[in-house]
Amino acid sequence: MCGIVGYIGKKEASPILIDGLKKLEYRGYDSAGIAILSEGKINVIKTKGRLADLEERFKGKIPKGNIGIGHTRWATHGAPSDENSHPHMSMSENIAVVHNGIIENYMELKKDLEKKGYKFRSETDTEVLAHLAEMYYDGNLVDTLIKVIKDVRGSFAIGLICKDNPNELVAVRKDSPLIVGLGENENFIASDIPAILEHTRKIYLLNDLEFVHLTSDKVELFTIDKKPINKNIFNVEWDVDAAEKGGFDHFMLKEMYEQPKVINNTITPRIKNGLIEFDDINFTADDLKNISRAFIVACGSAYHAGMVGKYLIENLARIPVEVDIASEFRYRNPIIDDKTLVIIVSQSGETADTLAALRDAKKKGARVLAVVNVVGSSIAREADDVLYTWAGPEIAVASTKGYTTQLMAMYMIALKFGVLSGNLSEKDAKHLINELLTVPEKLEVLLGKIDSIKELAKKYHNRRDVFYIGRGLDHMVALEGSLKLKEISYIHSEAYAAGELKHGTIALIEEGTVVVALATQNSLFEKTLSNIKEVKARGGTVIALAQEGNDSVKEIADEVIVLPKIDDRLSSVLAVVPLQLFAYYCAIDKGCDVDKPRNLAKSVTVE
Ligand code: M6R
Repeated sequence: MCGIVGYIGKKEASPILIDGLKKLEYRGYDSAGIAILSEGKINVIKTKGRLADLEERFKGKIPKGNIGIGHTRWATHGAPSDENSHPHMSMSENIAVVHNGIIENYMELKKDLEKKGYKFRSETDTEVLAHLAEMYYDGNLVDTLIKVIKDVRGSFAIGLICKDNPNELVAVRKDSPLIVGLGENENFIASDIPAILEHTRKIYLLNDLEFVHLTSDKVELFTIDKKPINKNIFNVEWDVDAAEKGGFDHFMLKEMYEQPKVINNTITPRIKNGLIEFDDINFTADDLKNISRAFIVACGSAYHAGMVGKYLIENLARIPVEVDIASEFRYRNPIIDDKTLVIIVSQSGETADTLAALRDAKKKGARVLAVVNVVGSSIAREADDVLYTWAGPEIAVASTKGYTTQLMAMYMIALKFGVLSGNLSEKDAKHLINELLTVPEKLEVLLGKIDSIKELAKKYHNRRDVFYIGRGLDHMVALEGSLKLKEISYIHSEAYAAGELKHGTIALIEEGTVVVALATQNSLFEKTLSNIKEVKARGGTVIALAQEGNDSVKEIADEVIVLPKIDDRLSSVLAVVPLQLFAYYCAIDKGCDVDKPRNLAKSVTVE
């Protein structure tokens, strides 16, 4: 949610900021801007729209200077406009600020500042930071920023430069990601690693309320009491290529194609002697006996993966599990004690609601296990245990490999707990693990059928509504398929438990309404077939998904996507891939911006 890049060094700052922002554009893309400090003046160029619009503003004349801050915005306070774009300047234009997050008490701060004569140019909450900094400025930028932060409530990652301190850049974070890149005679700040990976692999991962002071050859860290902080350098091991499109038209397409490989990365290293072993997580049979119930807490696609997790853990390990949307969990006062396990699921590891739920659960005494993709993210750092999904950088806003590797994590947790609790025999666990290991090659088969999915999209991309139905695990995958379709193609879509359709929603089915029916559960196949017939009887057009061998569906449905045979409990991870592809090609056929859908951002770091 919003991207920040800052540079201080000997090179021209503008191209470094623009390149970095391009890598962060997935975080927000309704406006962009940079501030460059040079010859005693801060030059701000910003605009509503994409980075391409910003570059258009330069008209070939890129601002010169060796220190600067840049921003891509996802609007919270104030519509996307030139004025509301970042960086924001203080009244006398001495100070420029970029900010991610929300300043919750900005209204009262704004009133106070206005009484003192400060004039506001934007509707943003961020602008108060620039004016406060000017008000507190005493020549020392760290002291100034500390005073500002003491006044504000909310979440923030902030970068600040000042025309009277031409060789310094300061920054701080709370509940919003910020990292520091350490270079040779140059240093960086950024919201995420890809922004600066071209320049350095040496990173400081900032914790909440850690202040950083950068010059071109030195980086110092301080607490809010100005005590120095010693921090380990985090070495980034993945490659810059992993965050590039690599010849694909879109990140989303590349990430869908990566699924066989990354799923393999997620599971294979965790299999020892045919069973699941987590090297870094010490979960004993006694620990498990002490757990009376579990919660899985997440948002969006991660929440859908959590629903599958509930089903699997309850079935294989017989531990009661509740699944909660993180933004609800926090405010519903759930019953949590030291016998509760809370499993937090998040691709980015930075989702504000999910992070807050984690903190709440820990405060109440729960043991917290995080399932996270981004190494070193806030959720990974704050959880008691972390199970990394190792999907590599996921850039497209719509989660694909992030979600399927979360599913893999759910399988592994359920299998591990099943054996530990004695509810799943080692023999049955080994059978399921062997089946799991066939998933990558079966996904390759499905990805090979891309042309038939393209055809389906061609036929149906212009429909107004698409419903998704399924029973059991199929229902959970239906929810994910429906989310994919609506977020990138803007086609109205809902997902229902197939048996629930006749309790109301079937009233919406009329001649030609498209219903994607998941019938991949052999044990529920006949039941789902009946629901498909109910839809057909009302004139609906049915695209069905079923496992090889369940040929009777071909006689009823209009279109059938056949999945390779697999244990019912594992079909979700196969079924979701054609649904991702269908959503992708519908969006392409409608001319949508697949990687950057309207109104969305990759990492939702505001509540
Ligand atoms: O990074 P997280 O897994 O915590 O993100 C959660 C959701 O914001 C995310 O899954 C969102 O729903 C995606 N856009 C879905 O494609």
